[in-house]
Amino acid sequence: MATLYSTTCRSHSYSLLPSSSYSPSINGQNHTQRLNFSSCIAKRVLPAKVSFPFRRNSHLNVVFMQDGAVATPVNPVENESPFKKLKDGLLSSAPSTEEMKEAASFDVNKDKSTVSITVVGASGDLAKKKIFPALFALYYEGCLPEHFTIFGYARSKMTDAELRNMVSKTLTCRIDKRENCGEKMDEFLKRCFYHSGQYGSRENFAELDKKLKEHEGGRVSNRLFYLSIPPNIFIDAVKCASSSASSGIGWTRVIVEKPFGRDSGSSAALTKALKQYLDEDQIFRIDHYLGKELVENLSVLRFSNLIFEPLWSRQYIRNVQLIFSEDFGTEGRGGYFDNYGIIRDIMQNHLLQILALFAMETPVSLDAEDIRNEKVKVLRSMRPLQLEDVVVGQYKSHTKGGVTYPAYTDDNTVPKGSLTPTFAAAALFIDNARWDGVPFLMKAGKALHNKSAEIRVQFRHVPGNLYNRNFGTDLDRATNELVIRVQPDEAIYLKINNKVPGLGMRLDRSNLNLHYAARYSKEIPDAYERLLLDAIEGERRLFIRSDELDAAWALFTPVLKELEGKKIIP
Ligand code: BG6
Repeated sequence: MATLYSTTCRSHSYSLLPSSSYSPSINGQNHTQRLNFSSCIAKRVLPAKVSFPFRRNSHLNVVFMQDGAVATPVNPVENESPFKKLKDGLLSSAPSTEEMKEAASFDVNKDKSTVSITVVGASGDLAKKKIFPALFALYYEGCLPEHFTIFGYARSKMTDAELRNMVSKTLTCRIDKRENCGEKMDEFLKRCFYHSGQYGSRENFAELDKKLKEHEGGRVSNRLFYLSIPPNIFIDAVKCASSSASSGIGWTRVIVEKPFGRDSGSSAALTKALKQYLDEDQIFRIDHYLGKELVENLSVLRFSNLIFEPLWSRQYIRNVQLIFSEDFGTEGRGGYFDNYGIIRDIMQNHLLQILALFAMETPVSLDAEDIRNEKVKVLRSMRPLQLEDVVVGQYKSHTKGGVTYPAYTDDNTVPKGSLTPTFAAAALFIDNARWDGVPFLMKAGKALHNKSAEIRVQFRHVPGNLYNRNFGTDLDRATNELVIRVQPDEAIYLKINNKVPGLGMRLDRSNLNLHYAARYSKEIPDAYERLLLDAIEGERRLFIRSDELDAAWALFTPVLKELEGKKIIP
């Protein structure tokens, strides 16, 4: 929320205003606001020849189409900055500290504010493979503020140059953006620094604070900490960061990665401990599946097309399948994985989050709280998973094409004789009026045949189908299916019955296919880019609120305890 241009930075790919100023006009009046647009805004937010008054999250209320633009009217009240809203008492009851800080740093101080991003656990895999590359992609796209600094923080001793060298190995430019790639990387790397410290040391975080201040150069400092560290040191790091390195006059936010506990009890304890040092609105619990393009598109598909929403219920839908499969095993990550298993690693978060978005009622608005309120209602309407509705498995060694693949327990980071499931299938139910009786089938596994993540919606049979005899007894062949392929090769397709051209009457199944690679030339951003940008903007829509997390654990905790208590062999 703090910076104007990052707020509007995402959403669009059409071009077209000069990069330095913006003079919106509504109802013939000219509400001129001079804003420093980065090229990113012009490209991503504003469609050709259409101008809108600026508003925070304006992209959320505008539907852009590839071949034209449609804008919804702007509500003048919502068009105000949070600062003005605060002054006018328009923000809900008592504003939180975070809102006060956002308001204080909004707009007025735009030129004087800076964002410092500290990647805590900078030498880890996630930081190298995802976080730094995502930050670079944002920089390349012009989506980072003018004044920003990135710090890596970890225990190992490293110089700035060594960090830059490490980071540079994983930076890539998008295929469609090769221009100036090397130059941009050099500029980006110059903004990256390193500080070595213990995760539980206030002194070391105080040293970091000193360095951050030097880079912030007296501007309003907004600070984002990305905790890319094991959960057993979360709290120590949060305690030290908040007491010794949080911002005095800007905002301070902390991104935390799963696992958020192992069950209801440990998750609640973690939340309680975090809240000793942070307000809920400073905590950004990341589930990177929420940042995936097609997951983000789910709501657009449902709520901006007339044809889907009326079918979105028990009346027309037979079952919904949420599928995650990977074609590789734990491969050295067994130490982490064995303590969690596939149900905690994938189902309780990634698949359940997709389910909640898929099944929620229409939110009042696209505001984070409205969306999260609807998601939490779905989760709370669900039946806790029953043991008889779960199947678990574990991959064994096999040989294919002369290559022998190891079993899960052959991984030497996995304890011998481990009973941790690497595969699970489960049927979940939402006991509400819309979904009563419709199974939501989750399937998740490692070391399977392929890598994919999909949502498959199977519709009911056509009653009294005139063409029944063309299908024989295989009524399943005659049902429609909507497939949302989240990855790889993103696509949305609808399986329909169609007449095979010719003089006879033969039917076959065909696809109405929206294949992203064929339709859109732009590369799809990585989920971490979207989520990091949102965290910088203070947009919480794609992050998990603590009540969502509690509801998610309530569904899975009893069955996990039973599986583990009874030592069920996968
Ligand atoms: C992580 C899991 O959250 O998601 C991993 O811990 C899994 O086990 C990964 O491999 C999959 O993410 P993606 O984006 O590659 O599908």
